[in-house]
Amino acid sequence: MRILTLIAVAIGSLAMAGAAETASPGDRCLTCHKKLSPGLYRQWSASRHGESGVSCIDCHGAEQGDADAFEHHGALVATLVTPKDCGACHAEEAEQTSRSYHARAGQILDSKDAYLAHVAAGEPVAITGCESCHGAKVEIDPDSPNRLSRKSWPNSGIGRINPDGSLGSCTACHTRHGFTKAQARQPESCSKCHLGPDHPQKEVYEESKHGNTYYTNVDEMNLDSGRWVVGEDYWVAPTCATCHMSATRRQKVSHDVGRRIAWNLRAPISKRKENWPERRKAMAEVCSACHGGTFTDGFFEQFDATVRLYDEKFARPATEIMTLIRKSGKLENPAAFSNDVEWIYWELWHHEGRRARHGAAMMGPDYAWWHGLYEVAKHFYFKFLPAAREYGIPEVDAYIDDLLKNDPMHSWLQRNTETLKQEIRSGELQKAYEKLFGEQAAKTGN
Ligand code: HEC
Ligand code: HEC
Ligand code: HEC
Ligand code: HEC
Ligand code: HEC
Ligand code: HEC
Ligand code: HEC
Ligand code: HEC
Repeated sequence: MRILTLIAVAIGSLAMAGAAETASPGDRCLTCHKKLSPGLYRQWSASRHGESGVSCIDCHGAEQGDADAFEHHGALVATLVTPKDCGACHAEEAEQTSRSYHARAGQILDSKDAYLAHVAAGEPVAITGCESCHGAKVEIDPDSPNRLSRKSWPNSGIGRINPDGSLGSCTACHTRHGFTKAQARQPESCSKCHLGPDHPQKEVYEESKHGNTYYTNVDEMNLDSGRWVVGEDYWVAPTCATCHMSATRRQKVSHDVGRRIAWNLRAPISKRKENWPERRKAMAEVCSACHGGTFTDGFFEQFDATVRLYDEKFARPATEIMTLIRKSGKLENPAAFSNDVEWIYWELWHHEGRRARHGAAMMGPDYAWWHGLYEVAKHFYFKFLPAAREYGIPEVDAYIDDLLKNDPMHSWLQRNTETLKQEIRSGELQKAYEKLFGEQAAKTGN
């Protein structure tokens, strides 16, 4: 990057020097766009790109044959600036982005979520909702002034499928035309997408001690620094970027956001990722800038146990019951999501169960419990099970009866309050949950 900077600066000043005689293509853009779009012009001119002589044409310039290229006042340009275009100067970032989980986010059309949006709502909201976060295929329309179909542009979804075959959009996090590191390091850069009832990372962060400390000390975060190593260049609090992307004493910045993630907590039943112990180690190394090893290990033990609690007590049985109902052929209506019980099951894992897991993962107690497992428990016992029993399917009833009678995590329903309180005080009741903690649990986990 350093060498590139020098080259770019050199090219930039050459362009400036020549401007007096013949306007270079880059400067021609400015003559119009300085007046035409003054806000955009100022964002660019104050940016590192503007300062380094990276001009409009360096990013928007297109080649003959590019599907989205159009003639524009004597130059061939394209509106889209894809990871491939940025990658001409930022190869490493483009490569890491393209192999990250983010790059795959546009491939959702076959998912249950997409089906639901299309049948229950309709196409406009699949575009303004799902595709605005996830990205979608940008379609070419030869009749449009910029050759991009209005249905698919604008779009800056994280896994956008570009006409040049590249995946993603760098401007999803790096707001144009400033493109600053300082901005991308802040939690707001992730918050367009990582929030809400099904993945409230932003709200969890705001609730956490980390968020508390960050928002009350933003001025001390050294956000403008070139180098940004946790513990050395800043230390008051971690942001989303700190834990998921930024440099530590041992790890370089990476645009592959999944490399420190050990679980997939999005799934109905949580799954371990490939090579998860390595990923866990990488995450723990982030913590080590500010916390001791025993503290960090203790945290992960509590978090993992909460994930297993959700999985073993609620997610597995609910999934098994749903499978039995589907197999019986007794659902009232044939289409997926046309029956009440399917929506209850869906919200159990996709909303409430995720909130519980995300709360526990990122130190947000209110999300772990009140928005999380409290809701899971209430709806499992008092919405899902009653709805499942309504079908009168013998296998389902037998499964539920056995679960409530013989599973020590559920048998409380049929016992009396005083005995249960005594067992809580003595520690007897908690014994049913011991199996969720410790090394043995980690080994038997999926
Ligand atoms: C003669 C004036 C002029 C020049 C020179 C010029 N532009 Fe434009 N440009 C315009 C106008 C007018 C629009 C349309 C603005 C609108 O729709 O509000 C536009 C729109 C654009 C768009 C958006 C297209 C879209 O709607 O998606 C891009 C990107 C763009 N210009 C880039 C450039 C680049 C890069 C250069 C230099 C190679 C350049 N322009 C030079 C006048 C100019
Ligand atoms: C560092 C690369 C870069 C530079 C330099 C750059 N742009 Fe852009 N520009 C982008 C990106 C990225 C987008 C969003 C397109 C996308 O999502 O792929 C964009 C979008 C646009 C758009 C259309 C979107 C809108 O908000 O209307 C216009 C117009 C535009 N740029 C004009 C310019 C002009 C004029 C300049 C020079 C002053 C310039 N750009 C410099 C990267 C750049
Ligand atoms: C506000 C932005 C946003 C909207 C709107 C949105 N999603 Fe998502 N979606 C996300 C984020 C962020 C994740 C990842 C959550 C996590 O890892 O906890 C996600 C996860 C998913 C997943 C799980 C992917 C996997 O690999 O497990 C699917 C499938 C999905 N979304 C599809 C959709 C569909 C279809 C819609 C519209 C009905 C939609 N999403 C609406 C942001 C959004
Ligand atoms: C998920 C959000 C996100 C996306 C998407 C993203 N970036 Fe970044 N980028 C960041 C963050 C956060 C930083 C700052 C990391 C740090 O310094 O701690 C950064 C830093 C950078 C830097 C500065 C690197 C350095 O070490 O000085 C460049 C260059 C960059 N990104 C380019 C890109 C390009 C090119 C793309 C698209 C291929 C892209 N980014 C996509 C979040 C993102
Ligand atoms: C023609 C080469 C070139 C292209 C194309 C280019 N950049 Fe840059 N970029 C640079 C240079 C030069 C710097 C300044 C490097 C430095 O500060 O070390 C820079 C710096 C950055 C930074 C760091 C800014 C900061 O705060 O320090 C980010 C982020 C970034 N670029 C993102 C992008 C994105 C996203 C794209 C595509 C939309 C892009 N760049 C396209 C050359 C380019
Ligand atoms: C434009 C929307 C968007 C933005 C902005 C965004 N993400 Fe994501 N993120 C997603 C979606 C969607 C997914 C799920 C990917 C999928 O469905 O394939 C995801 C997944 C993830 C994952 C899970 C990766 C894995 O391998 O399991 C992490 C971690 C993550 N994002 C972190 C971040 C961070 C940190 C930022 C900000 C610096 C950020 N994201 C910005 C949309 C976004
Ligand atoms: C103190 C460090 C820390 C901070 C700050 C942090 N996270 Fe996380 N994040 C984690 C840990 C730990 C996990 C769980 C990792 C694992 O699977 O073992 C996680 C998991 C995730 C996941 C994956 C969830 C899934 O469904 O599998 C996403 C997405 C994510 N974080 C996004 C964010 C966003 C966005 C922010 C900021 C609003 C943020 N994180 C702030 C540490 C952090
Ligand atoms: C940049 C420093 C920094 C990093 C990195 C960091 N933390 Fe923290 N952490 C703090 C601060 C500051 C507090 C608040 C301390 C207090 O309560 O006085 C805190 C508090 C906590 C708490 C206590 C929460 C509570 O509500 O009492 C836990 C648990 C925690 N961190 C876990 C982690 C884990 C796990 C990681 C790595 C994934 C991590 N932290 C990374 C600075 C950091």
